[in-house]
Amino acid sequence: MLITFEGIDGAGKSTQVVKLKRYLQELGREVLTLREPGGTEVAEQIRELLLQTKHDIAPVTELLLFAASRAELVQKVIIPAIEQGEVVILDRFSDSTTAYQGYGRGLSLELLAEVNRIATFGLRPDVTFYLDITPEDALIRKFSEKSLPLAFDSEELDRMESSGLEFYRRVREGYLALHTAERERFELIDAQLSPSEIHQRIITRLEQFETARLTCN
Ligand code: TYD
Repeated sequence: MLITFEGIDGAGKSTQVVKLKRYLQELGREVLTLREPGGTEVAEQIRELLLQTKHDIAPVTELLLFAASRAELVQKVIIPAIEQGEVVILDRFSDSTTAYQGYGRGLSLELLAEVNRIATFGLRPDVTFYLDITPEDALIRKFSEKSLPLAFDSEELDRMESSGLEFYRRVREGYLALHTAERERFELIDAQLSPSEIHQRIITRLEQFETARLTCN
């Protein structure tokens, strides 16, 4: 089973990944948690390239680097783990590419669909939890957690995060469009709810998913 988390930077995905992992392990499931980009030696190097602020990267190059990192992770780690019966929880997957490179950078959605298909080897998440927050609130949250003054040119921001508020507004629009197009798989949760409320919603959704799966089999 493949569960993915999506949302703009600062939506609180990593807290939920940890909570869900613990919950599933307590139920006796083997759980593997990963985050994109990265997860293999080569993919981690691609991650460094993508997030450094030293160089400018053209949008298509950026797309192909995210896709290259994904192809590595899917082929070498995710598919083998799923075949072993593990639950894989992934912090970002191909929906990030649609939202960031498609809606954010403005690359053609048809091109993205094709690149995503190649990079994922056709693998699709069973369920995706999208934590919805406005870019303004996400930024306030990020800086207040670190007790830093709010600044868009802060050295605390990586290359993607330095793309500005307008970019993040488009990314959020992309996520909302994905939710509209795929309501069954792409579950929207208000990221401003408390972490335990969000966790509870995730569990409720997964229970529904398991029930539906058992009913179908
Ligand atoms: P990361 O520090 O992992 O961000 P977060 O904690 O918010 O998940 O950095 C990953 C960045 O890469 C993040 O800004 C989202 C971006 N990204 C894309 O633009 N396209 C993609 O396909 C993926 C996987 C990530």
